[in-house]
Amino acid sequence: MDRILRDAATRGARYLEELETRSVVPSQEALERLSELGGPMPGKPTDPADVLALLDEVGSPATLASAGGRFFGFVIGGSLPAALAANWLGSAWDQNAALVAASPVSAALEETALRWLLDVLDLPSSCGGAFVTGGTMANFTALAAARHAVLEQAGWDVESDGLFGAPPVTVILGEEAHPTLRKALGMLGFGRTRVTVIPVDGQGRMRADALPTLSGPTIICMQSGNINTGAMDPAVEICAAAREAGAWVHVDGAFGMWAAAAPERAHLVAGVADADSWATDAHKWLNVPYDSGLAFVRDPEHLRGAMALSAAYLPFGGQREPSEYTPELSRRARGIEVWAALRSLGRTGLADLIERTCRFATRFAEGLGSAGYAVLNDVVLNQVLVSFGDEETTDRVIAGVQMDGTCWCGGTTWQSQRAMRISVSSWATTDEDVERSLDAMLRVAAAETAG
Ligand SMILES: Cc1ncc(COP(=O)(O)O)c(C=O)c1O
Repeated sequence: MDRILRDAATRGARYLEELETRSVVPSQEALERLSELGGPMPGKPTDPADVLALLDEVGSPATLASAGGRFFGFVIGGSLPAALAANWLGSAWDQNAALVAASPVSAALEETALRWLLDVLDLPSSCGGAFVTGGTMANFTALAAARHAVLEQAGWDVESDGLFGAPPVTVILGEEAHPTLRKALGMLGFGRTRVTVIPVDGQGRMRADALPTLSGPTIICMQSGNINTGAMDPAVEICAAAREAGAWVHVDGAFGMWAAAAPERAHLVAGVADADSWATDAHKWLNVPYDSGLAFVRDPEHLRGAMALSAAYLPFGGQREPSEYTPELSRRARGIEVWAALRSLGRTGLADLIERTCRFATRFAEGLGSAGYAVLNDVVLNQVLVSFGDEETTDRVIAGVQMDGTCWCGGTTWQSQRAMRISVSSWATTDEDVERSLDAMLRVAAAETAG
C-alpha cells in the first residue's frame, strides 16, 4: 500500500507540473492509445503497481488539461492544493458520509464548512445545507425542499402522497435558465416544459417587470450567474414580489453566487440572501476536485422534510445527521475538500480568487475588443463572449484555438449569435497564462479572419 500511494502521489505531482508545458488538448495519438485501457475483462489479477502505471502512461496524456491555468472552457475550476491533497487523504480514509455514526469526522467537517459557506456567501446563518455532486443535484435538492414547503402550505404531503391529485404548483423561470434547472424540475415531477417562462433582457437577466400576478403554490427559479454572460437576475425585485404573494424563491447560483465572497463584486448579488433556497457548485469557483455541489435552504426543516429517510433516522444525540439533508444515504465525504479549500484560502484568499479571475476576464475582453473583435456581453464577472465575425468564422477560430493547444475555450450561441466563451474560473491561472492565451487567440483569429 505504502509503495503504490507514494507512486500515485509522484505521478500526480508530475502530471500537474507537466501541464505548464504540454498542450491543453490531448494529441490524436494519446486518444488512439485509450484503446489500451479497454479489451476483455481480465481473467487474472494484475499487480496494482502495473494498473497505476498503465493508467498514468495511457490515461494522463489523454486528459484535457482542465486542472491547469489555461483552461477556459465551460465553467471548470482547478483544484486548490489544499483541496486536492485533502481529497487524497480523504480517499485514504474512505469514509461513508451518510451518518455521524459512520463518519464523525465527515459530519464535523460538513457542519463547519456549512457555517463558513453561509458566512462567505452572505446567507442566513440558520440555513440547512446539503453536500451533493454538483449544481444539477443542488438544484434538485433545493427544489425538492421548495416542493415540500409550498405543498405543505397548501395542506398536501408530497413525500407521502406524491404529485397525483396534488394542488398545482406554478413554477416560474427565466428564458435563460440553465438547462439543468429544467432537468431538475423534470426529475421532481414538475415537468421540464410545464413552466411559466419569463423573458430576459440583452444580458440574459429575467425581467422582473414581466412576472405574472402570483397566487397559489408558486416557486420562482432565479439565476445568479448566466452561463454565457455572468449576469444576475434582479433578486431585490423578484424577492419582493414573491414575499408579497407568499411564493418561494430559489436561486441557481452555480458559480455567480460566489460574487458575494469578493467585496468588489458583492453588489452584484444584492438581495440574493432574501431567497428561500440556493444551489451552487464548489467544483466550479471554489476550486475543489470533482464532484461537489451545495444546496442551502432557509428553513432546514423544509430540506429535512424532503430528504430525511424516516423517523427512524432522527438525530442521534442532537447532532446534524448529514443524510437527512441529501438525496443519498451512502456517499463520499465531500465536506472534506470544501472545508480544506475554505480553511486554506480564508476570507481574503477567497475574495482574491474571485476578484483575480474576474480581472482576468476583463483583460481578455479588453485585449480582444481592442483588436477589433466584438465582445458580446457586459463583462461583470468571469465570463466573456466574443464573436470573430459570422458564424463560420467564429467556429473556425474556436476550432483553431482548441487545436493550437495553448489554451481551451468552447463555443456557444448567445441570443442568435455564435460566440467563443471564455470562463476564467481557476486559482491556477496567472497573468502570464492570460497573456499567453490572449496572444494565441489573437494569432489564430488573425489567421482565420485574414483576407
Ligand atoms: C447556472 C448553472 N446552473 C447549473 C449548472 C450545472 O452544474 P453542474 O454541471 O455542476 O451539475 C451550471 C453549469 O455550468 C450552471 O452554470
